[in-house]
Amino acid sequence: MSVVKKRETFSSGLAVFFATLGSAVGLGNIWKFPYLTGQNGGGAFLLVYFCCILFVGLPIMLSEFYIGRKTRKNAVGALEQLKPGTSWKNIGLMGVSAACIIMFFYSCVAGWVYFYLFKAIVGDFVGVTLEVAKAQFGAVIMGPLSPIIWQFIVLAVVAGILTMGVKQGIEKITKTLMPLLFVLIVICDIRALTLPGAAEGVKFLFHVDFGQLSAAAILAALGLAFFKLSLGMGTMMTYGSYFTEDNNMFTTALKVALSDTLVSMLAGLAIFPTVFSFGMEPTAGPGLLFMTIPLVFSQMPLGNILLIAFFFLTAIAATTAMLSLVEVPIAYLSEERGMSRKSAAILTATIMFVVGILATLSVDKASVLGHITFFGMGFFDLFDYISSNILLPIGGLLIALMMGYSIKREEVVTELSNNGKMKVAALVNVYFFLIRYVTPLLLIVVFLSSIGVLKF
Ligand code: TRP
Repeated sequence: MSVVKKRETFSSGLAVFFATLGSAVGLGNIWKFPYLTGQNGGGAFLLVYFCCILFVGLPIMLSEFYIGRKTRKNAVGALEQLKPGTSWKNIGLMGVSAACIIMFFYSCVAGWVYFYLFKAIVGDFVGVTLEVAKAQFGAVIMGPLSPIIWQFIVLAVVAGILTMGVKQGIEKITKTLMPLLFVLIVICDIRALTLPGAAEGVKFLFHVDFGQLSAAAILAALGLAFFKLSLGMGTMMTYGSYFTEDNNMFTTALKVALSDTLVSMLAGLAIFPTVFSFGMEPTAGPGLLFMTIPLVFSQMPLGNILLIAFFFLTAIAATTAMLSLVEVPIAYLSEERGMSRKSAAILTATIMFVVGILATLSVDKASVLGHITFFGMGFFDLFDYISSNILLPIGGLLIALMMGYSIKREEVVTELSNNGKMKVAALVNVYFFLIRYVTPLLLIVVFLSSIGVLKF
């Protein structure tokens, strides 16, 4: 049963931009991007990542905006309305599951961030050395109780905000805090880049050596592009359904992708110089952010205050990204399943918490559940791998195929030109070329080569 309700929209073009950027910018930039770049060899990985953003990310983002704004519905309802009676709506259902799977581990890492914010406030990081920073991270993830409690707090905050449906609030939060986050990362950069030996880190980030690039690394870059831009599972459809009528969705997609990539690069420029300056390994994995940032600030005037600000803003970025993730199942349950937003929020958050504990207890081999593995991965890594490297790219492929081969060009022109108000014919041609041939082909090739069917 569909519940008819008046749908809100964001209040202006600027609000659309910041809310969408608020979804894109999150732990992906500050936590995942640096550690994946570190594990996969630096510059060459980065180059592949840029190509994925350009040829796969942008066309799919535009497709999702189109689907959302044209139908003004949640991910499942939107596809059902666009292609009634077909199985395309399963993309939406897959998206709802993907949102949960991502949240299983995302809420865990967000819990560490909240915990780090707390520790920074009480002064735990004053004057830390590399050894201490490593030991502290180990203690935080090992818990076993404290990371679960912080994960619970994270989910309660997210569910609480979404229950109140404070879109106005989200708008305001993203509009003021996104620019602030930016300024703080730049301060981190200045500090990191003036550390002794910083140049090595910059070299690592920008030196392209294709010898370093494996098929697995290319799949990771592709998965990261989806994860970063919140694609392949209905988040951008859902947000698109709140866009204003006169929004130029081409420029919104481009501006969001560019700004998001800029934030990732700035995070990389804060972290890698520090890694090399302190003689750490760039391949340290998920702990990279948590072990380096306290070091960046430790020897600096006002360091602890800046550290508090840094983790505060990272917590905000993670939270606004989670709002967009959890909004997908909530919009679905409340619009298609007749639940109230409140029960939908409680149900979703409860599932995310219960299964999320499995992720939290299996972060490290030595964790409580660390010994349980699937294809060599614990729950934490498994949830991450299944969502980023499998579900999101498959969702993206299906979206590309649907848009490219079963939606009429005229309809796309009408919607993307805001009913003929903008001249978009040439851009739509480029869009269709990409979404029909380039995007699906790249997705399929990367996928087949990473599972070893195609060899180069
Ligand atoms: N893009 C966010 C980040 O980088 C995470 C995120 C929000 C996401 N919504 C999503 C990832 C939807 C995949 C799909 O932190």
